[in-house]
Amino acid sequence: MSSTDLLIRPNTLSKKKSKTLKKGTYFIQTWGCQMNVEDSEQIALYLEQIGFKPTDNLSEAHLTILNTCSVRKKPEDKAFSMLGELAIRKRRHPDLIIGVCGCMAQIRCNEIRKRAPHVDFVIGTAQINKIGQTVENVLEERSFFSEINLPERKGAIVSDIPERQVERNAKLKSFVPIQYGCDKFCTYCIVPETRGRERSRPTVDIIDEVKKLAEYGTKEITLLGQTVNSYGKNLVEGRVPFSELLWKVAEVDGIERIRYMSPYPRDFKTDLIQTIRDCPKVMEHVHMPIQSGDNDVLKAMKRLYTVESFKDIIQELRETIPNITITTDIIVGFPGETEEQFQNTMNVVRDIEFDGSYMFKYSIREGTKAADMEQVEKSVKEDRLARLIQLQNEITLKRNLPEVGNIDEVLVEGVSAKNDKTYQGYTRGFKMVHFDAGRDLTGELVKVKLENANVWGFKAYLL
Ligand code: 5AD
Ligand code: SF4
Repeated sequence: MSSTDLLIRPNTLSKKKSKTLKKGTYFIQTWGCQMNVEDSEQIALYLEQIGFKPTDNLSEAHLTILNTCSVRKKPEDKAFSMLGELAIRKRRHPDLIIGVCGCMAQIRCNEIRKRAPHVDFVIGTAQINKIGQTVENVLEERSFFSEINLPERKGAIVSDIPERQVERNAKLKSFVPIQYGCDKFCTYCIVPETRGRERSRPTVDIIDEVKKLAEYGTKEITLLGQTVNSYGKNLVEGRVPFSELLWKVAEVDGIERIRYMSPYPRDFKTDLIQTIRDCPKVMEHVHMPIQSGDNDVLKAMKRLYTVESFKDIIQELRETIPNITITTDIIVGFPGETEEQFQNTMNVVRDIEFDGSYMFKYSIREGTKAADMEQVEKSVKEDRLARLIQLQNEITLKRNLPEVGNIDEVLVEGVSAKNDKTYQGYTRGFKMVHFDAGRDLTGELVKVKLENANVWGFKAYLL
């Protein structure tokens, strides 16, 4: 889809004029991955820059943004359903401004316009920095605006990395995107369409941002990218291996913990494994999507590894870092998946014993290769998913049980929703811990003794 299909207006407002326009409150609804959560944070900063204030109450917001996800059908359905509810609200409050951002905005701009003509603007994944000006334009002209151009990579395209707001609010844990887009084109996945070609941010920009975050009180950084460990390709400054970037981030004073999501198995090499072992700030947790435990399915998915090569990485990880937590993503019911192939996935899950998995039913994404393949019945997908979840839950508990009695380090995030004396946080291996404390320990790294193992994590005793 080309943005020229749509009404696009140049920025028409002068600064002086924009200051006189009435600004109110904004509400952002976010679906999807950490990248979207991070994008929503950027959107908020841009809106605050032009004078909007946040509200948690959708019904009082003057500006509502839907930051959408297209990776499966469900979040898209939710976004259209919310747009339906907002149509009713907009009839009563014609001044309400509604904007759609994120992956669905990128690929479904025309459909959004058709199904939801009350939407005032649509902004794609690479144009978030235009949101302030777009809202100003809508306020001024009350007509539809869109910004959905996606940069194409041409060799080193550092200039196509969107400008970011790095003056951010103080937060204990912050996401930092280091790479945008994806070049892998797995046959089930819409992300290469919605986020475009893979582009890495210059290392200096990443480090500057991390330094700023540390100054503002961030202790844990999660580096984000669709295939985060292929970071550094096509950089003007030359390839910077991901493991080297981790060491550079670790040099920033004030940062205590470094995580990253999600590495691609084929590019998970010994230098990264050694960095996890040797760099104390890099946490002992790897979330590495396997997607299927059957080699033919992996091939049909165009995943560039085999079950055997995936297992080799797991073995090297566990030999080098015995206490490593390993989690994964798995899709069941990929087109053509037979019961036998699904059983191969179950066997690999039994064999590897992941600490946890995100498990999904395959969801048809129009425009991807797998959408045209022979589909598996919905009921079969549901049944496979239920069986896989049950198996994974048993394994998660089995892996957590021997950790009881261990002493672990937790970054305290605050009190739990149910009890204001119970604090919660994650271990270095990304396991959730609840423990009681007599004083507010939020933001501190504390030592706990793990007491009680569950599928969700541990109850623990503060040392
Ligand atoms: N259907 C189901 N799950 C999908 N994922 C990506 N595309 C699809 C799809 N079409 C899953 C993969 C990926 C995770 C973020 O979402 O497991 O790792
Ligand atoms: Fe999608 Fe595959 Fe890229 Fe991950 S690596 S974003 S699953 S195309």
